[in-house]
Amino acid sequence: QGDVFTYDPGFTSTAACESAITYIDGDVGELLHRGYPIEQLAEHSHFLEVCYLLLYGELPSAEKLAHFERTVTRHTMVHEQMHNFFRGFRRDAHPMATMVGVVGAMSAFYHDSTDINDPWQREVAAFRLIAKLPTIAAMAYKYSVGQPFVYPKNSLDYAGNFLHMCFSVPAEEYVVNPVLAKAMDRIMMLHADHEQNASTSTVRLAGSSGANPFACIAAGIACLWGPAHGGANQACLEMLREIGTVDRIPEYIRRAKDKDDSFRLMGFGHRVYKNFDPRAKVMKESADEVLELLGVHNNPTLQVAKELERIALEDEYFVSKKLYPNVDFYSGIILDAIGFPTAMFTPIFALSRTVGWISQWKEMIADPTQKIGRPRQLYTGAAKRDYLAVEKR
Ligand code: SDX
Repeated sequence: QGDVFTYDPGFTSTAACESAITYIDGDVGELLHRGYPIEQLAEHSHFLEVCYLLLYGELPSAEKLAHFERTVTRHTMVHEQMHNFFRGFRRDAHPMATMVGVVGAMSAFYHDSTDINDPWQREVAAFRLIAKLPTIAAMAYKYSVGQPFVYPKNSLDYAGNFLHMCFSVPAEEYVVNPVLAKAMDRIMMLHADHEQNASTSTVRLAGSSGANPFACIAAGIACLWGPAHGGANQACLEMLREIGTVDRIPEYIRRAKDKDDSFRLMGFGHRVYKNFDPRAKVMKESADEVLELLGVHNNPTLQVAKELERIALEDEYFVSKKLYPNVDFYSGIILDAIGFPTAMFTPIFALSRTVGWISQWKEMIADPTQKIGRPRQLYTGAAKRDYLAVEKR
């Protein structure tokens, strides 16, 4: 073989970054945002307050929170010309394809006014992204179902506004049920940030070259789409529906164990958590609450999910591999009950994770010592050799 590059432990790539935003202990199943346990935030806080915490490092006073929420609320509209971008997509395009394209296109509207070396302009970019992603996600949904776009309504809170933009129509305003809005807000909160996952590392790597934040977030959305990452919530609900009934679970458990079968139990396992994902526990409580409210607690999909979880937590294979339900296992059940098609599950993950992406992007750009990310490799190709004329090959 040729020279094999040895990984230089002193080489710092963005994958080996330092961050003060989120802490995960995968062995005990702990997740802290700026030191606060996710369970306590889920019980006492709400999404925009967690956005403030992730961005600025401390829980806000009532006055600062009110100002932050007012600022985000006043940035929820998108430039009218952005409506045109949606019309370039086929109606049956996956909403994630639309979001990657439209969020990337935000660069065309705000690139020239975003000097990333100016802290204030970094703040404005963060506000614009946190405020506009729900509007763009709702527009992607409306476009896919052939309904007119619905403008944001400043009298509604962040989660309620998103439900309004998705489910209102000109002929009839959607009445936001506070329990569903709270469940929506909690789903957003539980997806807000998660240390150096694949999509956040993508945003950091893109940002390390000095690319504008809108293009970096579009790169994060693209990465999140994969079924091994953010696309798992859609794949998980589709799997639960394919299983259909509790008596069909054993066949899927068998397939998940079969090394020759590419099937994996979607919503189970994690690169870091080798214990219960703390977000899955909170999500499970929300699922029970929402389905009880909607009178669909006998939802066959939920019954399959709970039985699958019970079996997986007792099965020697899954126990030995430390495969526990993750954040994506119950979220799809809640989103389905609220009325979203499975194709909207990952866009909702993306709009929720935007605050984590942009908080970590800001943290990296503000660090004067940060350098462009440049992961190295172990070369496994041909050894050095001379060119061979075509007649000698
Ligand atoms: C998210 O990184 C993050 O923080 C991500 C995330 C976030 O908030 O950003 O938490 C969000 O992406 C959650 C994960 C969502 N993905 C899924 O639910 C898809 C299904 N899960 C898998 O594809 C898988 O568990 C991964 C991709 C999540 C992790 O895969 P790894 O790194 O291979 O897991 P592992 O090394 O712990 O696997 C140990 C073993 C392996 O078998 P062996 O090679 O030891 O024989 O368990 C097997 C795996 O093949 N395994 C599974 C399995 N997940 C792992 N077998 C069956 N079903 C599964 N779901």
